[in-house]
Formats: sequence, C-alpha cells, structure tokens
Amino acid sequence: MDANPRIGVIGAGVMGAGIAQTTASAGLETLSYDISPEALEAARKEITSGRFGLDSGVERGKLTREQADAALARLRFSESLEEAANVDVVIECVPERLDLKLRVFRDLDRLAPAGTILASNSSGFPVAALSAATDRPERVIVWHWASPAPVMKLAEIVVTDGTDEKVTEKICELAGRCGKNPVVVRDNPMAWGYVANRVYRAMLEEAARVVDEGVATKEQINQLMVDCFRWPAGPYGMVEGATKGWKKK
Ligand SMILES: NC(=O)c1ccc[n+]([C@@H]2O[C@H](COP(=O)([O-])OP(=O)(O)OC[C@H]3O[C@@H](n4cnc5c(N)ncnc54)[C@H](O)[C@@H]3O)[C@@H](O)[C@H]2O)c1
Repeated sequence: MDANPRIGVIGAGVMGAGIAQTTASAGLETLSYDISPEALEAARKEITSGRFGLDSGVERGKLTREQADAALARLRFSESLEEAANVDVVIECVPERLDLKLRVFRDLDRLAPAGTILASNSSGFPVAALSAATDRPERVIVWHWASPAPVMKLAEIVVTDGTDEKVTEKICELAGRCGKNPVVVRDNPMAWGYVANRVYRAMLEEAARVVDEGVATKEQINQLMVDCFRWPAGPYGMVEGATKGWKKK
C-alpha cells in the first residue's frame, strides 16, 4: 500500500464529516461520500466553519491558515460510491443499523480494489458480522472514533483472529498519523459495543437510576461528573453532542 493511502469516508454525518476533516488534515487525500447531497453540503460547512472545523482550528491556534487550506484541498466530496470505494482505505460511517451496514459492506467489497482495507466506525457491531458480508474478511476491521472526531484521541481498533496483522498495523499507523492513540482490542461476536462504549453504558445506566430515584437531575449529574473527573461534558451532554453534533458555544 502507498505510504500516503487514499481514504474514502462513507457517510458524511456527525462522524463522517469529522473523520474526513481529520484524515485530510493528516495529509491524506480523502473522498467524502454520502447518499444525500444535503448531507455532503452540511459536512462541507461543518468542516470549514463548524465548532471543531478548520476555521475554528485556525482561530484556536491548532493549525495555520495554510495548513487548513491544504487540508481542504485534499478533501473532495462525491456522490459516487464507485469513486469513494476506489481508494486504499475505506472508513464506513453510515447509521448504526446492521442491515444497512451489511449492504454497504457488500457493495464496498464488490466495488473496491482487492487490496483495499474496509474499516467501520460502527459503535458496536461485531467485526465478525461485518466481515462475513464480504469476500475479504481478513481486510475488514473496526476503527472506532469518538465525537468530535478532530479532537478526541480515541482509536479503538477491533480485530478478530482472522484479521490480517498487516491490516491492523496499517490502521494503527494511520490512527497515529491522525493524532490518535490506537488501542487494539478483541472482537466479541456475542456483544454489542466494544470496550469504551460498554463501560460508558454501565455508567449511563447508573445515572438513569440516580435520576429515577429522584436523587439528582440530569443537569446536576453533568456538572458533578465534569467537576469530579474533569470530563469535558457530563454524560447527558456527551450523548447530546454525539447524536446532534457540537454546537458553537
Ligand atoms: N455520533 C457519535 O458520537 C458516534 C461515535 C462513534 C461512532 N459512531 C458511529 O458512527 C456511525 C455514523 O454515526 P453518525 O453519528 O455520523 O450518524 P449521522 O446520522 O450523523 O450520519 C450518517 C450519514 O450516513 C448517511 N447515509 C445513510 N445511508 C447511507 C448509505 N447507504 N451510503 C452512504 N451514506 C449513507 C446519511 O445521509 C448521514 O449523512 C454509526 O455507526 C455510529 O454508531 C457515532
């Protein structure tokens, strides 16, 4: 594989837009694809002028104007799946529905060159299920990001016994280039959720019990977790940002 692999990001919503911004900022030619032209337009806006977009990065001194312009020049938006699949590494970011993901993986397997790695940013579907939809299970992997993708360091890499070690190495290397901290964990075909989300979900369940008992409000829990653990947002604030995007303060 090329030292500078081309990236195709499938789905340009909250995660797809942030991931495309991040890979392009890391120096990688990136194609952002979505079935919805409106989503592509919204992604372009988010990437340029959103709260964690390139303009804001320049304002906060995270990158120079020249670097932001170069990242934008490396990024193309496309309504053609054929084009987005004709890359070295695909990162799938469509909604978390297994039937949809399996269909997308079947299409990607048909359209992408044989050497292309098919990665998913699923929140929890087992790699075993996604890879079984393809004729290249050893080149299918989960590369799980956190929102906002340009900021959060998470790179939870999920592998099976059948994952090609070179594929795992390549994805870890790319995650490192994107400024993330790759951690490789084992797939569990019996569970939904990898490590970070399973532990987080246990905490959310406890927070819901606290609210049900009338002990504290959601707002109070948010504040306590920020103050106690230095989280950037409380659990309910995290859920809101992850599902609705991060609004400018
Ligand atoms: N939001 C988060 O915090 C977060 C964090 C980590 C992982 N994830 C996972 O990332 C994935 C995407 O989540 P999101 O929050 O970005 O969703 P989203 O709803 O914001 O975006 C999904 C995008 O996919 C597009 N889409 C739908 N069908 C498609 C298809 N067949 N081909 C191409 N594009 C298609 C939609 O038009 C939409 O723009 C999900 O699997 C989710 O579980 C989300």
